[in-house]
Amino acid sequence: AYVVTDACIKCKFMDCVEVCPVDCFYEGENMLVIHPDECIDCGVCEPECPPEAIKADTESGLEKWMALNADYAKVWPNITQKGEAPADREDFRNETGKLEKYFS
Ligand code: SF4
Ligand code: F3S
Repeated sequence: AYVVTDACIKCKFMDCVEVCPVDCFYEGENMLVIHPDECIDCGVCEPECPPEAIKADTESGLEKWMALNADYAKVWPNITQKGEAPADREDFRNETGKLEKYFS
């Protein structure tokens, strides 16, 4: 499956939602996650994300994000249409450590 990582937090461009053929994105207040059992590994969302938050789970070092995506996809609501991205999203685009600072 593909996973959403740190760069999405507080940016939430939502371009990914538009292209997913199986609607497997789920929405939290500050980020989206992908349901690992629903993602069909098509890869079309990966290049659509401006801050490059979406990664293939075959990359190393993504265990924390794989767990977070799996956990929150069970509790957050499904999102099938692109909503309004935060007006200040560019302010957070290059920030690091966003999970610790803003995730709730
Ligand atoms: Fe959806 Fe394909 Fe991205 Fe998986 S890889 S989340 S199926 S667009
Ligand atoms: Fe987040 Fe990128 Fe989608 S910022 S909402 S994963 S387009």
